[in-house]
Amino acid sequence: MPPTPRSNSNSLGLGRPILFCILILFTFLYLIRTPSAAPTPQSSPKKQPLAAPVAQQEQDGIHRQRIIGLADIHGDLPAMTSILRRMKLVDMRGEWIGGNAVIVQTGDLVDRGPALIAITRFWDTLRPQAEKAGGGVVNLLGNHEIMNALGDWRYVTKEDIASFGGERQRRAALSTGFIGQTWRHNYSITARVPFTQSFTSLPSSLTPTLPKTPRGSSSQLFLGDPTPPPASEDPFSHAAASFVHGGITPEYLSSLASEHPISKINALGSSILYSLLDTPAPLSLPRGSTEEQREFWSERGPMWNREYALDEDEDSICERAEKACRMLGVRRLIMGHTPHFGGIVSRCDGKILLIDTGISRAYGGAHSALEILYTLTPVEDSSEESSAFGSSKTSTKWIENEVVSAMYTGDRETVVLATSEREVEIPAA
Ligand SMILES: *[C@@H]1O[C@H](CO)[C@@H](O)[C@H](O)[C@H]1NC(C)=O
Repeated sequence: MPPTPRSNSNSLGLGRPILFCILILFTFLYLIRTPSAAPTPQSSPKKQPLAAPVAQQEQDGIHRQRIIGLADIHGDLPAMTSILRRMKLVDMRGEWIGGNAVIVQTGDLVDRGPALIAITRFWDTLRPQAEKAGGGVVNLLGNHEIMNALGDWRYVTKEDIASFGGERQRRAALSTGFIGQTWRHNYSITARVPFTQSFTSLPSSLTPTLPKTPRGSSSQLFLGDPTPPPASEDPFSHAAASFVHGGITPEYLSSLASEHPISKINALGSSILYSLLDTPAPLSLPRGSTEEQREFWSERGPMWNREYALDEDEDSICERAEKACRMLGVRRLIMGHTPHFGGIVSRCDGKILLIDTGISRAYGGAHSALEILYTLTPVEDSSEESSAFGSSKTSTKWIENEVVSAMYTGDRETVVLATSEREVEIPAA
């Protein structure tokens, strides 16, 4: 979200006390509900059964993957949970029902609203539930999280400070306390989420050419660069999407001069969060920050960039998006930060997806999320060669289908933003 210069004082007016009560109520309800919602490993000694979507996936031989993008929340817990319910990722109690889906939240959970504690706990509770079901939760940091870590509290509400018990306590929670810790451990700057690689096993005919499911927490899985495709062209090398709060331009990628730009960007973000442990509340980057860290935090960097949202030269921006996609090994660039209150915006045939719709009640925009539905359906094998020696499989064929949709709460209809379909032939191992 764009910081608008110090306009907080004239915002909520009379609504504030009422809003405050409602939020306290929500926070209270959330807090008393959380312990029972948290997974209790000792109460279920038996082996974790496969979640329904996974079982189904194995039965009909179709590989299905859902990837959801959710943008700037700005303190609005009720809006956030109602969208997650709409996307069938959580049930009425806020527990994961998304199976092997992966959700990426592109940052700016904080500021302009009061529920930071409850929102942070919510994601920490949901993450292990999603992983148990074979899915994942990926949290990215927005410019507002970093601003808060830097001590720039221009957009922090009084209610939010009160919910921590005061400024000192909030500062502690955001640095060495539970929020600072989970930010450093479970949040990052950018993620590359492959479509063909869920947490669960893939169809066995795919596994020879695709990397095996990596182990690790979902917050760590998608933070690195793709492994370079083998000498023979890997048909899946770009079957992935890039997520970031602001935007990653090809010029910024070039400036990194790194073979591993995704890891590099995440390492830079992490280095800034860690440097703040020694230099609390410097308001801007601490003295002694490197040129790279300053470029990262500039308007050209991934946290603040708005060029994909605001550059009106369609040809030039599409060309640059294409270039960034090639460099990142993805098909689509998905980002928040620059709101379009009416709904999710697709540019360059879905290469650029702007998913910040001003969800928070501080803005009153559309309650939206992006969905990528990806399927690989086996095709009856026509390349099977019958001969005197019997039949030998030389390859397997799949129809790869991808549907990108903007989804909204309430009665608003889903809008298909982009689709793609192709036949993929995978040489037998
Ligand atoms: C990171 O998230 C996990 C749940 O996925 C949580 O148990 C853990 O406490 C979080 N890490 C920190 C340092 O808060």
